Amino acid sequence: MGEFVGAIDQGTTSTRFMVFDHGGNEIVRHQLEHDQILPRPGWVEHNPTEIWERTRAVIESALTKGDLRASDLAAVGITNQRETTVVWNRRTGRPYTNAIVWQDTRTDRIAAALDADGRGDVIRQKAGLPPATYFSAGKLQWILENVDGVRAAAEAGDAIFGTMDTWLLWHLTGGVDGGVHITDPTNASRTMLMNLETWDWDDELLSFFDIPRQMLPFILPSGNPELHGVTRANGPFGGEVKLAGVLGDQQAATVGQLCFRPGEAKNTYGTGNFLLLNTGHELVRSQHGLLTTVAYQFGEEKPVYALEGSIAVTGSAVQWLRDQLGIISGAAQSEALASQVEDNGGVYFVPAFSGLFAPYWRSDARGALLGLSRYSTNAHVARATLEAICYQSRDVVEAMTADSGVELEVLRVDGGVTANQLCMQLQADILGVPVSRPVVAETTALGAAYAAGLSVGFWGSTDELEQNWQEDRRWEPTWSDEQRAEGYAGWKKAVSRTVGWID
Ligand code: G3P
Repeated sequence: MGEFVGAIDQGTTSTRFMVFDHGGNEIVRHQLEHDQILPRPGWVEHNPTEIWERTRAVIESALTKGDLRASDLAAVGITNQRETTVVWNRRTGRPYTNAIVWQDTRTDRIAAALDADGRGDVIRQKAGLPPATYFSAGKLQWILENVDGVRAAAEAGDAIFGTMDTWLLWHLTGGVDGGVHITDPTNASRTMLMNLETWDWDDELLSFFDIPRQMLPFILPSGNPELHGVTRANGPFGGEVKLAGVLGDQQAATVGQLCFRPGEAKNTYGTGNFLLLNTGHELVRSQHGLLTTVAYQFGEEKPVYALEGSIAVTGSAVQWLRDQLGIISGAAQSEALASQVEDNGGVYFVPAFSGLFAPYWRSDARGALLGLSRYSTNAHVARATLEAICYQSRDVVEAMTADSGVELEVLRVDGGVTANQLCMQLQADILGVPVSRPVVAETTALGAAYAAGLSVGFWGSTDELEQNWQEDRRWEPTWSDEQRAEGYAGWKKAVSRTVGWID
C-alpha cells in the first residue's frame, strides 16, 4: 500500500490537490484559481471544462513537486463545493452550459413558487432543506427549461447531471470512455431531490422540478471500501489510484475536524461560512432556520446526520473589498486596515449578495452598508466586514442552541479566514466563547483524505485519527456582556433593513 493519501478539493474559487501522511501532516500541495463568471446581477457561473483542466494541473504539479507517483498513494478522496450544477453530454464530454454556482440567485422565482403551493413543506420534510435558490434542483430545472436541446438529450439518456464531485469522478475514471456517474449522500442531500430517510432520489421530489431520473448519478457511500472507481493510467495520476472517499466540502471539514460524536461542531470560514453540528444517526429537523443534511456515510453503516447553518458570503465579502471596492490589495490586508480603528464606528455591513441564507432564508435581501457618517473611513468598512463574518456566525450559533438546547463551550474553526487574527478575536468576543483552531487548518482536504484512507484500511478506525488533532491557537473573549449585547442588537437592526429589498 502507498505511504500517503491524496485529496482533491474543488472549491468555489480554487482547486487544490494535497497529499497527507499517516499522521495527517501535509506533504505537498498545489492550488489554482478559476474564473468567476458574473454575467448579470445575481448570476454566478463556472466553466466546468476549466475546472477539470485546473484539477488535472494541480494533481500533476503536486505530484511533480513532491516527487510522487500513483503507486505512492494508498487512495485519493474528492471533496467539492456543493450544489453547483453541471449538465454534460456523456458521449462528447461537453457541458451544455456553464455550471450554475451555489451562490447564483437566478432561480428565485422557481424557489418562491415552491412555497406558494405547498411543495415547499414536502421538500422540508423529505429533503431537510428550505426551498431556496442555493440548492441544485432549481438550477437543474432552469437548465432543462432554458438551454436548447437539454431536455430531449436528458430523456434520451445523453445529458447527465452532476455536482463537481460527479463531474471530476467521471473524468478521472475515463470520461467518454466509460467514466463512472456517481455521487455520495452528502452531495446528494444538497439537491432537494434526495430523501433523507432512504438515501436515494425521491420520485415525488423529482416530479416537483420535472427532472428525468436517468440524468441523476448513482448514490454510493461517502467512504466506500468497494471504491468509487479507479483512475485511468492516461489521466493526471499517470497510473491507477483508488478513489475511495467523496464528501461535500463542509462535511469533509466536519470529518477533518474529527466531529464524529453527536454534539460536536465545527465552523469553516471560506467563501461562505458553514457551521455543522453532528446529530448522530438521528434526523433532527430544525425549527430555527438550519438545514438537516448528511454529515457522512461510511460503508454500509447508516448515515450520520448534521444540522447545518450555511452563510453565503463571508470570505467573499473580503474579496469584494479587494476586487470591487479596491480598498485592500489582498485578503491579509483587511486585518491591517481594520486594526487601524478601535471599533466599527457605528458602521454595519450586511453582505447579503445572494440574499440571506441561514437562519433567515430571505432571497429578497440584498447587501447594505449602514450607519455611515462623515466620520466613517475605509478602516471602518473593513472592520464592519470582519464583524459581519462573526455576526452571521453568531446568528447561526443562536439557532443551533435553540434547536439542540446545547450551549456551545468552544467553537472549532478552520478555513482560510482563520488566518485573520483580528477576525478570530472578534469571533470570540461576539460569541462570548473561546475559538479554537487546529494545527492542520486544511481540514476540508484532510477530511476527504480520511474518508478515502479509512475505506482502504490506511487508517484502521476513526479512533486512530484522534491523535492527529492538535490545537494550534485559541482566542478567548474579551468584550463585556454589555458590549456584546449592544453590538449584536446593532447587527440585528442592520439585518432587518436588508430584507424585502427585491420585489
Ligand atoms: O455549499 C457551498 C459550499 O460547499 C462552498 O464551500 O469552501 O467552496 O466556499 P467553499
